[in-house]
Amino acid sequence: MRPTAVERPVHGGARPDQLQAGVIDFSASINPYAPPPGLRRALAAADLRSYPDPFAGSLATQLASTHNLRPGHLLVGNGASELIFLIARALLGPGSRTVVVGPAFGEYAYASALTGAEVVTYLAPEPAGFVPELAELTRLLNRTRPALVWAANPANPTGIYLPEGPFKATLDAFEGVLVIDEAFRSFVSGPWPSEALLNTGRVILLRSLTKDFGLAGLRLGYLLGPPEIVDRVRAHQPPWSVNALAQAAGEFILTRTDFIDACRSRLTRRRQELRRALERLGLRVSDSAANFLLVRTGAATACTEFLLERHGILVRDCTSFGLPDYIRVAVRRRPENRRLVAALTDWVRSRAPHP
Ligand SMILES: Cc1ncc(COP(=O)(O)O)c(C=O)c1O
Repeated sequence: MRPTAVERPVHGGARPDQLQAGVIDFSASINPYAPPPGLRRALAAADLRSYPDPFAGSLATQLASTHNLRPGHLLVGNGASELIFLIARALLGPGSRTVVVGPAFGEYAYASALTGAEVVTYLAPEPAGFVPELAELTRLLNRTRPALVWAANPANPTGIYLPEGPFKATLDAFEGVLVIDEAFRSFVSGPWPSEALLNTGRVILLRSLTKDFGLAGLRLGYLLGPPEIVDRVRAHQPPWSVNALAQAAGEFILTRTDFIDACRSRLTRRRQELRRALERLGLRVSDSAANFLLVRTGAATACTEFLLERHGILVRDCTSFGLPDYIRVAVRRRPENRRLVAALTDWVRSRAPHP
């Protein structure tokens, strides 16, 4: 059990000047085949002079129907990140406690700590490939009795995708609300139907449209949950938080679900190739179901600097996740992945003891 201080989390993503200088960005895990054709035309038609629907009602209704749910179960947000902050504000406060299943995206702990809640981090063990140890997690939940538990599936930065069982066991181990952040779910082949857990009345599912559809600069995400909880979260959202362009993008995307299906199979092949190539270098690579891999390079900060300075490749140094020997790399198109493998080959050679 480890209390977490209020510190702004670090994120991946290249700076504009780095991109202009030709740096290849493996540090943010965005679909390299996005955005879908036609998106820019749909954006150009958006009405920028008028206020948009304050809570993206029409988009929420359409999204809800794709999940066979009523609109009251759904809240659209300015990216999943906004929703993380709103959930924390609605459900936590001084005197309450939350557990983050880690290693994890830093905003859960940050948003929770801002409310005055006590944040406890559970770190999945490295020897088990970062798969959470259920008995240990259950003991922690029994002891801490949190109001809210944050878990991602697939997890970031490991990409580990868990079946339904561990989530049901987690729900049995405490009485509060479980947030399952499914920001990277679109990249998983054959995911299980997590919507069924909404029947428990204690689960919030978070979805992001910024990674799969390449809208990181536009910002769009949504949550699914029991209407009573969704209402409490919505009460904290400022009106027009999801702007007209983001709403137009969302409505366009609803017509292009075939796009992500096609990308998923290509990216799965690219991930498998990249993983095999990195393992051939002797590097330990996470069993990721997502569009990124966690790679044990040793000395992550030095490795990140080496790759950027010598090869113009930006990767995510995972020191801020508590993993100073690991980097996270996005799965990109084949020629770029080959450049990453060549750069990491150079890194591995540079570390080999000289005869
Ligand atoms: C696990 C996880 N959840 C949520 C987010 C934020 O998503 P969005 O861009 O929709 O705010 C990220 C961003 O990297 C993430 O890694």
